[in-house]
Amino acid sequence: VSDRLLEILSHKGRYVARFQEGCFSDLIRADLSKRVFIVDSKVARLYAKPLERVLTSGSCLQIEATEENKSLDRFPGYIQELVSMGIRRGDTLVAVGGGIIQDITCFLAATVFRGLDWIFYPTTLLAQSDSCIGSKSSINVGALKNLLGTFTPPKEVWIDPLVLKTLSEAEICSGIGEMLKIHIIDGPASFDQIAADYDRILRDPACLLHTVQHSLEIKKRFIEVDEFDRGIRNVLNYGHSFGHAIEAATEFGVPHGIAVTLGMDLANYVAMRLGVTSLEHFERMHPVLRKNYLQFEKHPVPFDGFLNGLSKDKKNSHDQLGLILPAQDGIPARGFYSKDARFIDCCEEYFAKVRLG
Ligand SMILES: NC(=O)c1ccc[n+]([C@@H]2O[C@H](COP(=O)([O-])OP(=O)(O)OC[C@H]3O[C@@H](n4cnc5c(N)ncnc54)[C@H](O)[C@@H]3O)[C@@H](O)[C@H]2O)c1
Ligand SMILES: [Zn+2]
Repeated sequence: VSDRLLEILSHKGRYVARFQEGCFSDLIRADLSKRVFIVDSKVARLYAKPLERVLTSGSCLQIEATEENKSLDRFPGYIQELVSMGIRRGDTLVAVGGGIIQDITCFLAATVFRGLDWIFYPTTLLAQSDSCIGSKSSINVGALKNLLGTFTPPKEVWIDPLVLKTLSEAEICSGIGEMLKIHIIDGPASFDQIAADYDRILRDPACLLHTVQHSLEIKKRFIEVDEFDRGIRNVLNYGHSFGHAIEAATEFGVPHGIAVTLGMDLANYVAMRLGVTSLEHFERMHPVLRKNYLQFEKHPVPFDGFLNGLSKDKKNSHDQLGLILPAQDGIPARGFYSKDARFIDCCEEYFAKVRLG
């Protein structure tokens, strides 16, 4: 399977995501001139040896992966550093890290000198199974998460399954959260498959790799038809309005994919209580979603902060919440809902009781 590759068509042409073990060590042989690296500082420490040539090249910016570091106000500093490294038009940015390093690099690639090429070595499960394809960059503006962004596909993606070994259990579950999302969107057969495989994914690298590849194959179908997120790609935001509100309310104390897992469970619950879908769909998905957020089942989520976050979502209309909730058939679909007392009660009930059991 190590030679598997996936081709993606984008508005800037095709690019390929390659699966290859030990691809960091290929960087030892690569021509590093005309390349400027942006590396997660934790990954730099953990993989100091295979990344040695990159880290000592004089064209490497190390950044700690925090939400603050993908805020607009950090960008003048990054640009200064790139300029002092001698970056030129025609150079290529290379991101090594998870979704945060990806968002920073992709945004810089879209804007510096009106556009540079960029290459991505995703190192988190979330980035390998989801964010590495799809062209989006999103950065924060103060407390407003992912407010600014562009559609800037990478030139190449190099996926090394071996680098996942150093991730914490919470980061693995965060990645699984996005994989659950994409499988649910694909329909009941895909969901049943990932639900049945859940425990094996955690201990069998071959099963994990297969699930990552299947996730990217499903996502490819949505982004190739609707790269700019004007229609069917919207459903990939399933669990995200609630998830982002949970991240904001907890000041990012809950990892992204776990907040999304809670968000999907909450979406299923609210849809069931509002009569949009039946109890069956909530009950079918709840055990697996719960397994995936278990380390965070009692994590305090300040409710005012949560409601406040929900009101700021980009998908809202002027007076209604734009949410992706499961429809009658259990498959997520976009709709608009009032934030009335009944809706608020359902959310409150979820945090106080439903998520615990
Ligand atoms: N642009 C997109 O399409 C897109 C899609 C989904 C999420 N995102 C964004 O991505 C971010 C989340 O990304 P993420 O979950 O990849 O997390 P991340 O980049 O924040 O990384 C999570 C943690 O894992 C560490 N880490 C990274 N690789 C490691 C490795 N191999 N071993 C050990 N530790 C490692 C990081 O240092 C960090 O502490 C959020 O800001 C989210 O908004 C963007
Ligand atoms: Zn996400």
